[in-house]
Amino acid sequence: MKTITTIPELRAERAKLNGSVGFVPTMGYLHEGHLSLARRACEECASVVASIFVNPTQFAPSEDLASYPRDLARDSRLLEEVGVNLLWTPTPDEMYAEGYQTWVTVDEVTKVLEGASRPTHFRGVTTVVTKLFNAVQPQKAYFGQKDAQQAVVIRRMVQDLNFPIEVIVCPIVREPDGLALSSRNTYLNPDQRQAATVLSRSLNAARDAFLAGEHDAHKLRALITEIVNAEPMVTLEYISCAHPDTLQELHGAVERALLSMAARVGKTRLIDNIVVG
Ligand code: PAJ
Repeated sequence: MKTITTIPELRAERAKLNGSVGFVPTMGYLHEGHLSLARRACEECASVVASIFVNPTQFAPSEDLASYPRDLARDSRLLEEVGVNLLWTPTPDEMYAEGYQTWVTVDEVTKVLEGASRPTHFRGVTTVVTKLFNAVQPQKAYFGQKDAQQAVVIRRMVQDLNFPIEVIVCPIVREPDGLALSSRNTYLNPDQRQAATVLSRSLNAARDAFLAGEHDAHKLRALITEIVNAEPMVTLEYISCAHPDTLQELHGAVERALLSMAARVGKTRLIDNIVVG
């Protein structure tokens, strides 16, 4: 695996790759969730490019940009083991040079859920992913269902801007007790780590209720809320039962829905979701 930093180097290495190129964008501090995307890309593409870039423009000033965990040496080893061909680690200075002022924004689907409390987050994501796509020019790009809204937003952007890229969304990788893997899980102390299982437990309970015939959107949201509120260390930020593509809240009986939530465990903000139907 070759590791490169600058865009000219990346372009030069990209030009040498023959056949289909898969791309796995990340912010590093890799875990099995990220690696599942890289493995899938290696199975499906002749060459795979991964990027590690803690993208400043998707963090609000109040968020954890400075403290976001980093371990490039370990990340490179893991990606190499999986079979990634090129690792691109751009610098903030090259990605956002002095005078930078160009943004890619996606409208409706970025205003709800995560976008409601993080109004500049998706503009940062869509802008950086556009820049990464332009440099890497992959045929396929791999994202995780863990960030369900991000996947919807990227799909929308790729379709709307005619990127010749197939977006592949991979299932959520979880700990044995159900907690969705996240780089931010490292912020949790042992008690918080235990309490954090309430996110997936409440979503599983809603899925079970759905399978047992409870299709009312309001009741599914209420069930999740009740289970999360019974865990004193966890504060629910939002709970949603929405259309999986438009992300608009659903009312009445639902056939298929994205149940998603954000919650705080101490200072750590966690998200999780499940699709029913
Ligand atoms: P990051 O949080 O590092 O995640 C990189 C990719 O890994 C995303 O597509 C995310 O959904 C996926 N992922 C994270 N945890 C996962 C899990 N438990 N199971 C499956 N997939 C998982 O998402 C970002 O970075 C950034 O917003 C990025 C797209 C790189 C743009 O900066």
